[in-house]
Amino acid sequence: MKGIILAGGSGSRLYPISKVYSKQLTLIYDKPLIYFPLSILMLGGIKDILIISNEETIPMYKKLFNDGSHLGLNIQYKLQSAPNGIAESFILGDKFIGDDSVTLILGDNIFYGTLDYMYNAIKNNVGATVFGYRVTDPERYGIVEFDDEGNAISLEEKPAHPKSNYAVPGLYIYNNEVVNISKNLKPSPRGELEITDVNIEYLKKGTLKVEKIGRGVAWLDTGTPESLLQASNFFGVIEDRQGLKVACIEEIAYNMDFITKAQFEKIISEMPKSLYRSYLEKILENE
Ligand code: DAU
Repeated sequence: MKGIILAGGSGSRLYPISKVYSKQLTLIYDKPLIYFPLSILMLGGIKDILIISNEETIPMYKKLFNDGSHLGLNIQYKLQSAPNGIAESFILGDKFIGDDSVTLILGDNIFYGTLDYMYNAIKNNVGATVFGYRVTDPERYGIVEFDDEGNAISLEEKPAHPKSNYAVPGLYIYNNEVVNISKNLKPSPRGELEITDVNIEYLKKGTLKVEKIGRGVAWLDTGTPESLLQASNFFGVIEDRQGLKVACIEEIAYNMDFITKAQFEKIISEMPKSLYRSYLEKILENE
């Protein structure tokens, strides 16, 4: 299974900072936003990861992650010249995906809670697996409608009159067919290759699985200054209360056995003195 993080776009709702800065690098309490989707892929056991972004931001991601080898990962980068749609990820990632299956996560999507069923879906996916999350503002998202037995029966992108309150979050798990499906898509009226159209293709084939996400899981919005502040407060409260960090990629790499103890020690020794470093040092001390 390969992993793609789509982390471009203009982030214009965050203007003026969007003039000079990428949304996915915004600080969520104590770490960049992109650490959250990256940690989901890592916890799903994915080590080969392609980050797709624009010309200005790729150098910043490279500075942050390099080739990922210090985390036991293989991180590659691909340019998206314009935000032509989420499904373009599979065309741009064609060579990277090869004959493999692929999980796509949007670089601005944050999930928090017991997510084992997501990690299991990454490991056991057959056709396509996506999720349904109850929201109060369904017209802002891709929406899935269920029948009485809980089977998905329709999907629509940002419908004016949504048929349900279940949004499809930005975590999509596909077999290799997704590459050809994406190559055959036509742009939508808003000029994008829509991920919802990919999911509709799988629905038509009868190979789309939609799992409802329960109320114990947080799927946080990061589109506006207000929602970013809410996300920071949310993780500030949780991390301070538990003394455990969420989406700490070095800790995850160590716990997942992607790196050895010696590699973990080396990462820490190269960090400047900071609360982040002290946290990782404590993990070693408490072993
Ligand atoms: O967050 C989940 C929603 O994401 C889904 O429910 C929708 O079905 C899906 O279309 C998408 O909705 P948005 O239209 O709100 O996505 P947005 O255009 O904001 O793009 C999501 C992220 O992906 C954003 O950080 C920018 C990045 N992006 C987007 C596009 C279209 C790219 O890097 N390149 C792109 O071409």
